Amino acid sequence: MLLASLWLALWALPALVASQSADIITSVGPKTSIAAKRAIRTCNITSYGAVADGKTDISTALKAAFNACKSGGVVVIPNGNYALANWVTLSGGNAWALQLDGIIYRNGTAGGNMIFIEHGGLDGIDVWSTNIWIHDIMVTNKDEYVTVKSPARNILVEQIYCNWSGGCAMGSLGSDTNISAVTYKDVYTWSSNQMYMIKSNGGNGTVSDVVLENFIGHGNAYSLNIDQYWSSESTVAGNGVQLSSIKINNWTGTEANGAQRGPVRVICADGAPCTGVDIKDFAMWTETGNGQWYACRSAYTDSPSFCLKDSSDHVSYSATTSTATVAPTGYQAPKMSADLATLTWGTTAIIPIPAIPTSFFLGTSPLKPLAD
Ligand SMILES: *[C@@H]1O[C@H](CO)[C@@H](O)[C@H](O)[C@H]1NC(C)=O
Ligand SMILES: *[C@@H]1O[C@H](CO)[C@@H](O)[C@H](O)[C@H]1NC(C)=O
Ligand SMILES: *[C@@H]1O[C@H](CO)[C@@H](O)[C@H](O)[C@H]1NC(C)=O
Ligand SMILES: *[C@@H]1O[C@H](CO)[C@@H](O)[C@H](O)[C@H]1NC(C)=O
Ligand SMILES: *[C@@H]1O[C@H](CO)[C@@H](O)[C@H](O)[C@H]1NC(C)=O
Ligand SMILES: *[C@@H]1O[C@H](CO)[C@@H](O)[C@H](O)[C@H]1NC(C)=O
Repeated sequence: MLLASLWLALWALPALVASQSADIITSVGPKTSIAAKRAIRTCNITSYGAVADGKTDISTALKAAFNACKSGGVVVIPNGNYALANWVTLSGGNAWALQLDGIIYRNGTAGGNMIFIEHGGLDGIDVWSTNIWIHDIMVTNKDEYVTVKSPARNILVEQIYCNWSGGCAMGSLGSDTNISAVTYKDVYTWSSNQMYMIKSNGGNGTVSDVVLENFIGHGNAYSLNIDQYWSSESTVAGNGVQLSSIKINNWTGTEANGAQRGPVRVICADGAPCTGVDIKDFAMWTETGNGQWYACRSAYTDSPSFCLKDSSDHVSYSATTSTATVAPTGYQAPKMSADLATLTWGTTAIIPIPAIPTSFFLGTSPLKPLAD
């Protein structure tokens, strides 16, 4: 794990959900309003020993505040600078919320998650749960962004601004993967490793009904990258995770170098060929040179495009690559005005904390004001 300061805005947890995508089955987001939670109890970490001096470890205070509010209430980290030296797991909460107004500095060296929320559900970066809504987030870091892990069902991720990060992903997937009904929409990715990656290496189980729509990318290494032979993951026993109904709609923009890393890479497991990988309204072009490639392996579609095969036999096939030397129509996409221009600090330096942006995706406003 790299030392990087991660900044994210945790927006209000609304009671009602205005926006829903086709593949989301029921409403997403909290079932109890923030007002109702507040009416039960507010657990301010400063009342449990936290000191906003940027030095004192708040882990004990945060856990104590969580324990007091975990059955209903709002844990508040008020304005101020705090240090977290020991990572905390907040487990078993119900009808609670975390209101993060302050800034938490990473003051420890352990790997893993600084704050790990489980068995309760809340906005997060790595998420596995049911019925979760994650929106209006900007991250600058050197690792992953909003990543869905297994098991997960009914997750909506929208208005996401990757401002120089690893990019959004699903995985890594292993044994008994069980992910369904996941939608990402309005995702802007700048100077990241990928716009979206599904990654596994062996394993078993299923991923179904995924929608990745309205994505804009610039300056990224990979764009769409489904890799079921992901070399950074040790091989897991099994024929491969079965992917089905993966809909990629309305992607525009440019990738860093399409001859090096093409914008469409759908490398599925030979032991579990992907089905229903449908790529529509996808127009991306290279920022370097005058060509790009598309690669597919054991990948099937109901709507032929790029190198995807349309057939009902779903037998494995080895990687095929096609190249394009003419830019597709309509690939041009605007850039956000607040893109981080250059990375001037190394992996051990603190990333400066920007002001909260007024928009997380082109032409949109945040879906909810901060902590209303
Ligand atoms: C939390 O406690 C701090 C320090 O007492 C106070 O300044 C702040 O207003 C409190 N915040 C809330 C939301 O209660
Ligand atoms: C946190 O970091 C500061 C500055 O490096 C240091 O003075 C302080 O002792 C650290 N606190 C903990 C709890 O590690
Ligand atoms: C997958 O998860 C769903 C809940 O999201 C559950 O109902 C189903 O039984 C799980 N399937 C398997 C094979 O574990
Ligand atoms: C997945 O693989 C694990 C480990 O090999 C095995 O225990 C499990 O039964 C498999 N699950 C399915 C659904 O095949
Ligand atoms: C496609 O995405 C763009 C943003 O890149 C958005 O403005 C447009 O409305 C989307 N088109 C459709 C048909 O949703
Ligand atoms: C992107 O990161 C840079 C550097 O931290 C910052 O100046 C800029 O405001 C960030 N953009 C947004 C939208 O927060």
